[in-house]
Amino acid sequence: MRIFASLSLAVLALALVPATQTPAQAQAVAQTPPMGWNSWNFFAEKVTDKDIRAAADNLVATGMKDAGYIYINIDDTWEGQRDASGILHTNAKFPDMKALADYVHSKGLKIGIYSGPGPKTCGGFEGSLGHEAQDAQLYASWGIDYLKYDMCSFIPEVMEKQAPNDKAAQMHIMYDAYAKMDKALKATGRPIVFSLCQYGWDASWEWAPQVGGNLWRTTGDISPDWDRIYSIVSQQAGLEKYAGPGHWNDPDMLEVGNGKLTLAENRTHFSLWAILAAPLLAGNDLPNMKPEIKAILTSRDVIAINQDSLGKQGSRVYSEGETEVWTRPLAGGALAIAVVNVGDNRYSTHPFHLSLAKLGLHGPQAGKDLWTGKPITLTDNQPLELASHDVLLVRIDAPK
Ligand code: GLA
Repeated sequence: MRIFASLSLAVLALALVPATQTPAQAQAVAQTPPMGWNSWNFFAEKVTDKDIRAAADNLVATGMKDAGYIYINIDDTWEGQRDASGILHTNAKFPDMKALADYVHSKGLKIGIYSGPGPKTCGGFEGSLGHEAQDAQLYASWGIDYLKYDMCSFIPEVMEKQAPNDKAAQMHIMYDAYAKMDKALKATGRPIVFSLCQYGWDASWEWAPQVGGNLWRTTGDISPDWDRIYSIVSQQAGLEKYAGPGHWNDPDMLEVGNGKLTLAENRTHFSLWAILAAPLLAGNDLPNMKPEIKAILTSRDVIAINQDSLGKQGSRVYSEGETEVWTRPLAGGALAIAVVNVGDNRYSTHPFHLSLAKLGLHGPQAGKDLWTGKPITLTDNQPLELASHDVLLVRIDAPK
């Protein structure tokens, strides 16, 4: 089911984009990057109603809700069959979606769901092709607040069949499919976050806001290993100008707490998603979350960087050897700086001399080290020691 994600991008002229909506119109939701939890990264196709309720309970019990995580998103594999009127029913894992949505709402949370423009979803379940308006109305009747809309079978079953060997025409078909669901969602009158999942095809960041996207995937799927996470991070450099309130680049859901990521890697992953103004959709096993993972996911200072009201995505300012320096401008003239040792050897930064001049800063800068919580003063060319895949994340309230 991940095969579609690895297909190469086709690059087309922006002129082909259907101008159904401007980013400004999409601003009623997702004014800051959406925060919540999604079932896929931990449960994949095994997720059940019970797991979603447990996730909602734990989002509250762990303090994650108070830290800003609001959406509980059901990913693929909830879908059953359509009846004679075309109405989609849930499968046996989700006996009553309305009751589940009511339960999630009763916790002060919001609920998301998943579908796609093709006949089938990535997991081979029922997609929305030909039933877009009907499905949007169904979601609204359940009280759904967020839709992730995933291409998958739309590529071979619609794009390639309708326009064989014509990439330009295929991309038009793709834009139209997303615009169609956006229109259907808007017609319900319910504010529903619209998340485009099409792996960055055709430079999604250039056209997704025009088809109503509040966020759009920029790459193929994430996995809980450093090489994949770093490969995704590398593909975000340069995309900063496309993000802003109501419309965000999506480097995929968080793997914090999953797989064999070290504590440093979890911290760096979370720090970079904050710098990137990326959606913070945790994807870990909430009922069994370790305290050190909870500490990362609920770090108020780091979340404040991610949720900063200016809504400006950060950028990679420079790299030297195996160290990268990213910054993000924040409201009130503040600045976040992330220095990351992306090398596999813990001594690869030994020592790294941070150039403040390259960041446009002059003289010593007083700030806060967001992972120790302690004050820190950065000086020009100061030597820094960073372990492999670790990060120094600093907030400077009054940069000079
Ligand atoms: C694709 C998406 C994933 C997930 C799965 C579900 O691979 O990119 O995020 O939604 O489909 O089948």
